Amino acid sequence: MEVPTQHEPVSARTPLQRAFPRIAWLVLAVVTVEFLLITWRKYSHLDAGAYGMFWSRREWLWMHIGGGALGILLGPLQWLTQWRRTRPQVHRSIGRVYLLAMLVACAGAAGLIATSPADLAFRIAFAATALAWLATAFVGFTAIRARRQQTHQRWMVRNYLITLSPITFRAMLRIPGVMELAPPPVMIPVLLWLSWVLPLVVHEIIVRGIDVARRSRRVESGGGDGLDAESA
Ligand code: HEM
Repeated sequence: MEVPTQHEPVSARTPLQRAFPRIAWLVLAVVTVEFLLITWRKYSHLDAGAYGMFWSRREWLWMHIGGGALGILLGPLQWLTQWRRTRPQVHRSIGRVYLLAMLVACAGAAGLIATSPADLAFRIAFAATALAWLATAFVGFTAIRARRQQTHQRWMVRNYLITLSPITFRAMLRIPGVMELAPPPVMIPVLLWLSWVLPLVVHEIIVRGIDVARRSRRVESGGGDGLDAESA
């Protein structure tokens, strides 16, 4: 998910490393569109059968899906465009709408959790996801208010990985045999946790690896001790 920056010389990377971000974005685009289409088909008609257990709580669900879908769609605009540098005002405005959408989705999630007939383990897993979502956004937002750009970027990537957790969750459900590892009341909450903890851990490993490589390159080229002024 880490997008190459101007700090990383393109020539230092292999063709596969250069192609990786494009492939990752493509895969992400395909699974995202598929997720949003499935959601749209299921909930765009007022049909009690399709809504199932959400029928009596559909207002919370609409808030939740509306905010969540907007967040999913707006997130990539903040990385895939050059607006951050060329039009900071556009980046700022989209960022505000993204955060607002996330708050609306969180309010919807809170309503769904409070009214859910599901086991406590499910509700705790959802509540933890919502808290992580809010916390990463809060740290990312306060960082940019303090003009700590790199910290802001890193926390907003973490936040977006949590935004994508329902997509990751569905992808994990499709892994052959995964639901046979334990009964659904155990396996579903475990997958709900993994749907955001796992991407965050993988992202952290990649980011730390890139940091270490950059530092050793800087030390090798005599450009200082390789320590970043801002680390997050
Ligand atoms: C990242 C934080 C999120 C949390 C904490 C969260 C929480 C929840 C909760 C509590 C439910 C109801 C589950 C139940 O009552 O059994 C739910 C359902 C749902 N959520 Fe989220 N959600 C999150 C992100 C998103 C996003 C970004 C979307 C994108 C549109 C989304 C789409 C849905 C959909 C479509 C459902 C209905 C269930 C289904 O058809 O699979 N959620 N979510």
